[in-house]
Amino acid sequence: MSATRVAFVTGGAQGIGEAIALGLAADGLDVAILDVKGKEELMQSVVEKIAKTGRRALWLVGDVTSEQSIKDSIAKTVGELGSLDVMVANAGILQVGAVTELSVEDWNRVFAVNTTGVMLCYKHAAIQMIKQGRGGRIIGACSVAGKHGFAHAGAYSASKFAVRGLTHSMSQEMKAHNITVNAYAPGFIDTPMITAVDEKMGKEAPSGAKTASPSVVADLVSYLAKPESHFINGQIITIDGGEVLD
Ligand SMILES: NC(=O)c1ccc[n+]([C@@H]2O[C@H](COP(=O)([O-])OP(=O)(O)OC[C@H]3O[C@@H](n4cnc5c(N)ncnc54)[C@H](O)[C@@H]3O)[C@@H](O)[C@H]2O)c1
Repeated sequence: MSATRVAFVTGGAQGIGEAIALGLAADGLDVAILDVKGKEELMQSVVEKIAKTGRRALWLVGDVTSEQSIKDSIAKTVGELGSLDVMVANAGILQVGAVTELSVEDWNRVFAVNTTGVMLCYKHAAIQMIKQGRGGRIIGACSVAGKHGFAHAGAYSASKFAVRGLTHSMSQEMKAHNITVNAYAPGFIDTPMITAVDEKMGKEAPSGAKTASPSVVADLVSYLAKPESHFINGQIITIDGGEVLD
């Protein structure tokens, strides 16, 4: 097992995932990023940026909704980079629209990526970390929409509420293994996801709302990934400029 810690970031081709991958590399971790087919060039460019910092990096085409894909990708990461110490289950999708117009297909797709995808990453990261026996950090993507239901985001909000429950449960199960399980719950962050919402929602778009750059989330994840954060466990940390108060 390598002495250098290794992180795995899903949805790492762009947006918050890219910022997290670059942030963890700057902290001295080797990093594997995973994203869907079609994002190869973006992933290559993230890996090149990481390589310039002197860290090792790996990009993987995969799909968080597939258990086999997650198992294989973690095995490849451990095979090439030596271990898995930090899992960031970041990949997510947003579906915009009123519940009266929500199809079961859209509902299931949002849950498959945002909830099942996070569960599969948590599960297989934990299995690997327990095997290694040196603790670890599991971090998931929630949202302020996982603390407060917003209009036109019914499936998304519900899927992110589920991430909270999963994160709470898993944090209790992992205590004995020195693995912490936390999630970040951002407000509006300037990424391609939010640009797409602006286009779809027109006047109701969050463009007037307070936004921040992906680096603010990456800085939070950087701390959660550190050994020093061992006393933070089972928390869903809001990072939204103070809009939603727990
Ligand atoms: N941007 C925001 O304002 C905001 C706010 C709160 C929470 N979040 C959450 O943060 C996370 C990242 O959001 P973002 O704004 O960077 O989004 P984004 O759309 O810019 O990036 C998400 C990435 O996830 C990838 N992805 C989607 N489905 C996947 C799958 N099945 N398997 C693997 N990868 C997949 C996409 O290809 C994309 O590269 C998401 O979970 C999102 O819900 C974002």
